[in-house]
Amino acid sequence: MLTCLQLVKSFGGVKAVQSCSFEVKSNLITALIGPNGAGKSTVFNLISGIVKADAGKIIFQASKQVSSKQVGGEGINITNKSPEAISNLGMSRLFQKSRLFNNLTVKDNLLLAIDNEDTKFLKNLLGKNKITKEKEGSIKQILKLVEMESFENHIARDLSFGQKRLVELARAILNPHTFLMLDEPVAGVNPKLREVIANILLELKAKQETILLIEHDMHFTFSVADWVVVMQEGKVLVEGKPDEIKNNPKVLEAYLGE
Ligand SMILES: Nc1ncnc2c1ncn2[C@@H]1O[C@H](COP(=O)(O)OP(=O)(O)OP(=O)(O)O)[C@@H](O)[C@H]1O
Ligand SMILES: [Mg+2]
Repeated sequence: MLTCLQLVKSFGGVKAVQSCSFEVKSNLITALIGPNGAGKSTVFNLISGIVKADAGKIIFQASKQVSSKQVGGEGINITNKSPEAISNLGMSRLFQKSRLFNNLTVKDNLLLAIDNEDTKFLKNLLGKNKITKEKEGSIKQILKLVEMESFENHIARDLSFGQKRLVELARAILNPHTFLMLDEPVAGVNPKLREVIANILLELKAKQETILLIEHDMHFTFSVADWVVVMQEGKVLVEGKPDEIKNNPKVLEAYLGE
């Protein structure tokens, strides 16, 4: 579904990503792991077009219909395209840092994700009658899944760190997509809900979704991932199935610390 080829990105003297290549296969959960500062979030930023690559190529193969637009067929070179153009191809993303609209309620934040286009959303805000039963239903359903249903009408600003994380995860899932990128979805989330989220991801996979995940919680990562890519100092150190990665001496030394 997605191929990164020899990606390079420096910030001043910091070589955040150095010739990084890997592939994300359709209908699987791929995890990107590695030490702090390894370049994982920068790779996400390059894929979603928020940061421009110094060199390298990103090819995206959209596989099904997204919203009303039919996309697919040949792989599309998305390197350095605008974030809007990339998102319109069917990518949805959870950011490592919170991006909720603090002054809006949980429900309105989620509505924004469903409608996806600012203008449509503003119209909805001005005339709430345009919010269909179907959208209400989807919002209630996803909030129930992440055990946040009683917070639907709360202002985002008042939520705890972990609660914001859950709403953002709900938002990324609600945003129409074929490819879901999650940067540390369970950071700050309690152990019980981590398990709930793991199950949500496995359910999405069962519905033919493709997920690329960054996560430091190895129990969580190894319980959901089909394929693990380990980054270190901007490069791919090693990749493989979870069992191979768990026991790889290079990974143990560089990251897992045993
Ligand atoms: N916008 C930026 N400006 C300057 N330096 C940056 C920027 N974004 C990232 N970096 C640097 O690039 C390197 C890689 O950062 P990145 O956020 O990709 O790491 P990461 O693997 O996601 O780490 P973590 O697990 O801590 O989130 C770090 O040294 C970071 O300081
Ligand atoms: Mg990061």
